[in-house]
Amino acid sequence: MKNEYLPYPARIKSIQRESFDTRTFKVVFVDEKLAKSFNYKPGQFMEISLLGIGESPISITSSPSGKGYLEFTIRTMGKLTRAINQLNAGAILYLRGPYGNSFPLEEARTKNLYFIAGGIGLPPLRSVINSAFDHRVNFGKVKILYGAKSPDELCFKEELKVWQNLTNTELLLTVDVPDKDWKGNVGVVTTLWDKTDMDGNRGIAYVCGPPIMIKFVVQKLLKSQFKERNIYISLERYMKCGLGKCGHCNIGGKFVCTDGPVFTYQQIKQFPDKERAI
Ligand SMILES: Cc1cc2nc3c(=O)[nH]c(=O)nc-3n(C[C@H](O)[C@H](O)[C@H](O)COP(=O)(O)OP(=O)(O)OC[C@H]3O[C@@H](n4cnc5c(N)ncnc54)[C@H](O)[C@@H]3O)c2cc1C
Ligand code: FES
Repeated sequence: MKNEYLPYPARIKSIQRESFDTRTFKVVFVDEKLAKSFNYKPGQFMEISLLGIGESPISITSSPSGKGYLEFTIRTMGKLTRAINQLNAGAILYLRGPYGNSFPLEEARTKNLYFIAGGIGLPPLRSVINSAFDHRVNFGKVKILYGAKSPDELCFKEELKVWQNLTNTELLLTVDVPDKDWKGNVGVVTTLWDKTDMDGNRGIAYVCGPPIMIKFVVQKLLKSQFKERNIYISLERYMKCGLGKCGHCNIGGKFVCTDGPVFTYQQIKQFPDKERAI
């Protein structure tokens, strides 16, 4: 019988520094057959481990159309994430998954897409953003609103420049604390609402970031006429199994690892303990 907890080794092919505490890893499964056949959807996550150190859920940040490899962006929080961020190309990570549901794009055909991210919330959204760009003709306007604590903490700095120059696409950035070279907006991500037109009537919103950010972003989205069922939010919870077995990630009678991590605001509103969610 297949052991669901058994991880598969994957080799780090390259590492991109994003900020002082965050790196993006491009990895390839050691088993070539698995590398070729592996599929996932934007918004899903993997359990990543290092032997003797620990295991953690990490979102897949690459787009499913990039075949043969996976990318993860990891911020140092504790034991495991620190150890991973100290590795060099060539080292082995252990992966199991993919787990969880995904950000839906089919329902968004012909609609305008609004991506709103805070801090380390951009990596999970990057997968669905690039999936949308891979099928660009299917969608209307694309707006990406992204906030970080400081300019150094903005992830994917080179890719942001590419997104900025795409047709019918608007990228709005903000930081809490500017440095001497920063010429953009200063303030939390909701301050970007004054800089652009946020029209929810034909819009689908995809949101990821810290709970306090999500709370205020949802208030703004509702005021901008976004329907509760058109606001997709990726939730973060402490996880262990990732398989709906241990109960660690339970919220509102749901398991974030299997029922989520992506929920609509309409679903979250119905959680009996919704104030624990966002
Ligand atoms: C579905 C999902 C997707 C995720 N995707 C990413 C990602 O793409 N990139 C990334 O950097 N991180 C992501 N995380 C968060 C990541 O899993 C945690 O930062 C990691 O588990 C910390 O492990 P550690 O051993 O380094 O830290 P630990 O030693 O376990 O903890 C260090 C500190 O982090 C806090 N912490 C640990 N886990 C969480 C958590 N889930 N939520 C809030 N605080 C936590 C602890 O309270 C402690 O203060 C995701 C989490 C989930 C649930
Ligand atoms: S992490 Fe075990 S049930 Fe979700």
